[in-house]
Amino acid sequence: MDRLFIFDTTLRDGEQVPGCQLNTVEKIQVAKALEGLGVDVIEAGFPISSPGDFTSVVEISKSVTWPVICALTRGVEKDIDVAAEALQYAKRKRIHTGIGTSEYHIRYKFNSTQEEILERAVAAVKYAKKYVQDVEFYCEDAGRTDNAYLARVVQAVIKAGATVVNIPDTTGYCLPWQYGEKINYLFENVDNIHRAVISTHCHNDLGMATANTMAGIQNGARQVEVTINGIGERAGNTSLEEIAMILKCHKGLNIDTNINTQKIYPVSRLVSSLMNMPVQPNKAVVGRNAFAHSSGIHQDGVLKGRQTYEIMDPKEVGIDENSILLTARSGRAALKHRLNVLGIEVDNGKLDKIYEDFLRLADKKKDINDADVLMLAGMERSETQRIKIDYLQVTSGVGVKAVASLSLQIAGEKFEAASGGNGPVDAAINALKQIIKRKMTLHEFTIQAISRGSNDVGKVHMQVEHDGSIYYGFGANTDIVAASVEAYIDAINKFVK
Ligand code: KIV
Ligand code: ZN
Repeated sequence: MDRLFIFDTTLRDGEQVPGCQLNTVEKIQVAKALEGLGVDVIEAGFPISSPGDFTSVVEISKSVTWPVICALTRGVEKDIDVAAEALQYAKRKRIHTGIGTSEYHIRYKFNSTQEEILERAVAAVKYAKKYVQDVEFYCEDAGRTDNAYLARVVQAVIKAGATVVNIPDTTGYCLPWQYGEKINYLFENVDNIHRAVISTHCHNDLGMATANTMAGIQNGARQVEVTINGIGERAGNTSLEEIAMILKCHKGLNIDTNINTQKIYPVSRLVSSLMNMPVQPNKAVVGRNAFAHSSGIHQDGVLKGRQTYEIMDPKEVGIDENSILLTARSGRAALKHRLNVLGIEVDNGKLDKIYEDFLRLADKKKDINDADVLMLAGMERSETQRIKIDYLQVTSGVGVKAVASLSLQIAGEKFEAASGGNGPVDAAINALKQIIKRKMTLHEFTIQAISRGSNDVGKVHMQVEHDGSIYYGFGANTDIVAASVEAYIDAINKFVK
């Protein structure tokens, strides 16, 4: 079997998504989960882009042992200097440098020429080689780059010492056979191509990221750049879990990865929960409905023989159907086990606090599922917030005006307000605004039920504008009005000091 290297960019391309930002501790948690999953390379950040990214690359380098830690740069000396410094503690390290190679980039972004870009590409690789042996070069917008010119760049950067060459379809424009032909063209026209690994990096703007990545693999690429749950710029990147399971289901392709597929689901849940980014229910491999059979004909078929309608066993991706439900009778040990399965380590003090919340929720809701457990772990994280809800009472209904009374604790001091509104959420937010007297505009407001049933936990995502900047807030509660106020407060906590 041929070995395919899995390069995970959840913490770089994935983390660039508005609202998905993680702090350093959370990034380390994700990096360790990726190490446990078996990825070969972790792209830990873009160190020159912010002090937070720099620190995260340093701390991930210290915390992770086996995977190569990679840092992104532009093809600029200063970027490469900073990346090398951030990688100083990595046991195995890689600098990922590059430049735009399509006419759009050369002409409009750089106001330059093909020859000058070629020289800059070679210079960037040679400069990075002074710091590390393992240098990856990306030809940004390779998807729309003329193949003959692309081949010249690839040949030149390999000659300059690049160990991996990345061919990104940056805009998600390519059709699968075009992307496949591009990789094939490189194998046929670049003399020294066997001295480097060719990598795919596909975006999902037209829903073809996974298909394009597979076309790249079929034509010789042996590294794929992917993210958990397919998160990433705009419509996202190729999903790690889709590629891993395609190769597992289609053994005839004779290509293997180091991914322990049974860890896919826990890592997917961990990333979704930490980034407050829900996974669409019909998402391949990890969506809530990926293994749910609802039609009578399908249910009947699956009961007679699982393989009639299932091409993968949910257990292969780490979904243990028997252990999904927890109830009010479950003990601390069962809750801790579930948290561990979901990739969350807690000490006894934290467990006690989460267990108290768990019992309170289990009183209101019959079955506690994975999404609830993750929400409870998240509730625990919000304990350090400056503004907290003390109480909230709302009256609403048909033929009556909605009225809300709200009490908040702000840095330990109590504030109260009451207000009417156009519905219960509006009334509660109006009361909140009476207490927090800042100019704020609500831009986006989405409510999502996590699982099924009227006793479900509602998740609320909000975008609040304050002083020209956008802040993201998240709340989760069985009461959706309370979840909405929590989300608004979560956003406010990000700018009120
Ligand atoms: O999509 C892209 O081209 C990228 C590069 C920076 C690798 O993310
Ligand atoms: Zn990208």
